[in-house]
Amino acid sequence: MSSTIFDFVGGTSGEWEVLKMTTLKGDSLSEITHIDKISSSLVRGNEGIWTLKGIISNLRYTEKAEKEKLIAIQEDLGRPSASRAAFIPLRKSDEWWNLAQDERRKIMEESSKHTQTGLKYLPAIARKLFHSRDIGEAFDFLTWFEYAPSDEEAFEELLYALRKTEEWTYVDREVDMRLLKG
Ligand code: HEM
Repeated sequence: MSSTIFDFVGGTSGEWEVLKMTTLKGDSLSEITHIDKISSSLVRGNEGIWTLKGIISNLRYTEKAEKEKLIAIQEDLGRPSASRAAFIPLRKSDEWWNLAQDERRKIMEESSKHTQTGLKYLPAIARKLFHSRDIGEAFDFLTWFEYAPSDEEAFEELLYALRKTEEWTYVDREVDMRLLKG
């Protein structure tokens, strides 16, 4: 069975070198120079300056037609050309979590067009979402993106668009780390 639990270990050695770390909202994380993404377990922790744990889970909001579009064009992590990555842990407010499922879906898609906008950047940007909230972590989500250096500008444009949406008004902690494959 493929692994579903990962530790993102921030420290002074690892596969990914940190080019830039920016705290957009809420508390920052301690400075690090490298990140390792390691297959792990719920009980096991990894050394480092900090470790963030996340789980690959089922989709919550994606509808069938969207899922089919995503599957048809998205690419996997680990492409040799994708020497750049972004690791962006996020937390959403209690206000968000107190909404009902259909209200959250409405904000994400009808208002914020998260998937619709994101789809325009596939397959250039490969992505993976890790859930952390249900295992009591400091962040709710750990997001990971991989792309070629030539697609960096497109990735910035995507982030700019998403951060202006109604969905992002519920984000209360966000740290953006840009990485280079070592
Ligand atoms: C969730 C697509 C980029 C952050 C989702 C979901 C989809 C999606 C379909 C819903 C998953 C579900 O049904 O549970 C995309 C596509 C992108 C993209 C195609 C293009 C590259 C981004 C970016 C960020 C981001 C740049 C910023 C860090 C998130 C977060 C969630 C999410 C935090 C979870 C939201 C929640 O459950 O409340 N994305 N996304 N995504 N995405 Fe994106």
